[in-house]
Amino acid sequence: MLLLRRCLSLARFSPLNSQRHQVSPTVALCAVRLCSSSGGGGGGGEDQRSYQHTHRPRWRHALAGLLAGSGAVLAYGLHNHKAEQEDISVQNLKKRSGLPIYSQEEVTKHRSLENGVWVTYKGGVYDITEFVAMHPGGEKILLAAGGALEPFWALYAVHNQEHVLEILSEYKVGELSVEDQKKQQAIKSSDPYASDPERHPVLHVNSLKPFNAEPPPEILTDSYVTPSAFFFKRNHLPVPHVDPATYQLRVEGLPGGVLTLSLEDLKTRFPKHTITATLQCAGNRRSEMNKVKQVKGLNWGIAAISNATWSGARLRDVLLAAGYRPDVAQWAHHVQFEGLDKDVTGTTYGASIPINKAISEEGDVLLAYEMNGEDIPLDHGFPVRAVVPGVVGARNVKWLGKIVVSAEESSSHWQQNDYKGFSPGTDWDTVDFKSAPAIQELPIQSAITTPADGATIDRSVETVTVKGYAWSGGGREVVRVDVSLDGGKTWQVAQLRGSEEGQGPESSPPPGRAWAWKLWEITAPFPHEAEELEIVCKAVDSSYNAQPDTVSPIWNLRGVLSNAWHRVKVKVREDEREA
Ligand code: MTE
Repeated sequence: MLLLRRCLSLARFSPLNSQRHQVSPTVALCAVRLCSSSGGGGGGGEDQRSYQHTHRPRWRHALAGLLAGSGAVLAYGLHNHKAEQEDISVQNLKKRSGLPIYSQEEVTKHRSLENGVWVTYKGGVYDITEFVAMHPGGEKILLAAGGALEPFWALYAVHNQEHVLEILSEYKVGELSVEDQKKQQAIKSSDPYASDPERHPVLHVNSLKPFNAEPPPEILTDSYVTPSAFFFKRNHLPVPHVDPATYQLRVEGLPGGVLTLSLEDLKTRFPKHTITATLQCAGNRRSEMNKVKQVKGLNWGIAAISNATWSGARLRDVLLAAGYRPDVAQWAHHVQFEGLDKDVTGTTYGASIPINKAISEEGDVLLAYEMNGEDIPLDHGFPVRAVVPGVVGARNVKWLGKIVVSAEESSSHWQQNDYKGFSPGTDWDTVDFKSAPAIQELPIQSAITTPADGATIDRSVETVTVKGYAWSGGGREVVRVDVSLDGGKTWQVAQLRGSEEGQGPESSPPPGRAWAWKLWEITAPFPHEAEELEIVCKAVDSSYNAQPDTVSPIWNLRGVLSNAWHRVKVKVREDEREA
């Protein structure tokens, strides 16, 4: 693959083809043939030699690219063309006269190696096709293709160096049209969602307004704790902007009367408690139910789930401060949460949880004001959200405005008429939402994040590595993940990773309080006789709950609780050298 890319970029930049983004398919093909005829070694052939001669600095980039696998920063380090290149400086990023103006639409067309990989940065347009193979971070650079670099560079601070800007400047092909930026501004100002925060462009957007998005699976399990920017986002309404200085949380329904707490009160009057907990949307993996029969809801893939560290006051401590006493449990069965996000009628988002979960010392329910060590980001509930570990995402109410201790569940639509499971035989004509309980603890779940469905593996490889996540609701620990490469005929046990540091019993959470997912991985011998791999995973939790093998028997009209064995198909490519 690396070789193919290099061949394509050589074709793109060959002297026969000096216009960077007008690669004739014939030239590209010739280059591919030349490269493959060189036997896949270090790359040779006439094209490359003449390229090396006329584009020496670029050849150095290619060399850096080959080395990048063994030392990421090396590629940038080797790229020291200051001494041998014409005057390239950071100033070049700002303006280079005579370059064409491109619209965002034009830039967006260039998001693949075949069509060229373009990005924008500070008003400049860059054709970085050639650089893709040399990028120290590998193919992830393609996630920025057709869009802006800034959000990616903000996350990966290694880019904030002058020589990285110098590298970029070499690939400049034009300027981004000012009109385009203005147009975007105009659309924003007349939009009820105009004040929604900026989101990371890597997210797969399921709905823009309200904003609902999930990270690409290959990113999801890169880190045990999901960076907040990549954490899935599930909003039903526009994001409210709450002033932390005037924020007040009302706690109602207890004998002590109404307790009102400022953000400062929450931070100073109650001990700060930190947990690592996975949130999963009830609709995670709904797209697999859609394949069986159409359901209503956002078409989530496998990444409406993420893991973060959360800090805040324990709900238990706040309820005790508001007058909770053991006798309250005789009449109060629920704790309701109300968000500060409102629809046009003024109705707020709401949900509730059982009071025993709220008051239990082992329940670990938080009124969280920090996510991953920082103020909770706007999308995730700034300044305060409920974190109810082990319980479906819907009850983890963001932008929390009110808590009510009550004999009743929340009367909100999302508690009463949504987020409930039904029989596959129930349809929209027969459904009675009162007949089913609101989802609280979620069932056992697992999915494969690498390889991707439809990926290709060379027959010549010795081993195949499969990665994914596994999690169960209610604090039940994932104790095993089984992986099959042959559609479920034979199984092997994956290695589990239960914390940032490592694995093993020392990182096991206390029984019943396994709030965070486990990442898992297995490297298995490649089955050389296979025409295609059907990779399957299934997890088992500490109560020996297992996932159902197929989707049909758990299909339901809202597409919730989708947790069948996860399957990906991988094509096996014949080794060209043997053919
Ligand atoms: N809280 C409020 N106030 N408004 C919402 O729309 N969405 C809920 C829950 N809390 C929601 C909310 C749902 S359905 C989910 S899955 C989680 O928030 C998602 O949390 P996240 O966006 O931080 O991932």
